Amino acid sequence: MSDNVRPESMKRINTAELAEAFINEQVDAVRKQVGDKKVLLALSGGVDSSVVAALLIRAIGKQLTCVHVNHGLLRKGEPEQVIKVFRDQMDANLVYVDAVDRFLDKLAGVSDPEEKRKIIGKEFIDVFAEEAKKLDGIEFLAQGTIYPDILESDGVKAHHNVGGLPEDLDFELVEPVKLLYKDEVRVVGKTLGLPDNMVYRQPFPGPGLGVRCVGAITRDRLESLREADAIVREEIGKLEQTPWQYFAVIPDMQSTGIKDGKRYMGWAVVIRAINTVDAVTAESVVLPWETLRTIRDRVIAEVPGVNRVLWDMSDKPVSTIEWE
Ligand code: XMP
Repeated sequence: MSDNVRPESMKRINTAELAEAFINEQVDAVRKQVGDKKVLLALSGGVDSSVVAALLIRAIGKQLTCVHVNHGLLRKGEPEQVIKVFRDQMDANLVYVDAVDRFLDKLAGVSDPEEKRKIIGKEFIDVFAEEAKKLDGIEFLAQGTIYPDILESDGVKAHHNVGGLPEDLDFELVEPVKLLYKDEVRVVGKTLGLPDNMVYRQPFPGPGLGVRCVGAITRDRLESLREADAIVREEIGKLEQTPWQYFAVIPDMQSTGIKDGKRYMGWAVVIRAINTVDAVTAESVVLPWETLRTIRDRVIAEVPGVNRVLWDMSDKPVSTIEWE
């Protein structure tokens, strides 16, 4: 049987006890595979790579080097949290790469969504490969592959994400959670002591805010999106039942506002909240007016350059979840 097939006898990991047993098993397996060699991991701060990082820190400590590339398209507070959790709390070897200018310079003036994705994907690989080459003696590459990635290698994620590593970085792979479903990865992450907002975070596309800052990305509009998105997530996150995915979008258009009797042009922020099972179809979530009103008031008061707040009530199909 291929080691990419989940054995039928494998129990669903849904308790801390089962997660602890799984972690112990993987710690042994990783130590056996890696020996005293060094391992590299691209740590985005998403659920899968974070859980792999925490697991490998437990297994091999400083033999692991995590590289966190800040491409400027992450959500508010994310790079800071990666540093706090992994460097400060877990004492990991963490290389933080501030590549914000590099990405935003490459993206300047580019409005086609697939072109934007390609640039972000390629640039990410280039930055990661450059960092890898600076490090001596790496022989293994850890990845947060999970079982749905194997089952749906032609699914949404694969369809959207561009790339793979360059061939001259030919490392042996370490993929300790590749037979786990997402809910199991979360239980393992929680058992490893990762914070809830990291373990239970909603899906976030690889190109990040890049596909939510519609059209050609500008730094000021991107910053306004990041602020508005934080408000949208904070307020919708207070609901008893949170939607599957909820975020802000900032279209590449302006409309008229009025302040102190003067007309001026400003951006519109769009609120998007959907429920779905598999992201192939999705239903717009009916949000309480209270929540919408609070978001509107906060966005207008707190986010520079925004003078209008809209709610996207479209279902998929025909509207995709993301705007690009
Ligand atoms: P769409 O917009 O196609 O999105 O309805 C379906 C799901 O896929 C996510 N998505 C992406 N994920 N890279 C990713 O890793 C991407 O380029 C990308 N584009 C969309 C989207 O957030 C939704 O959950």
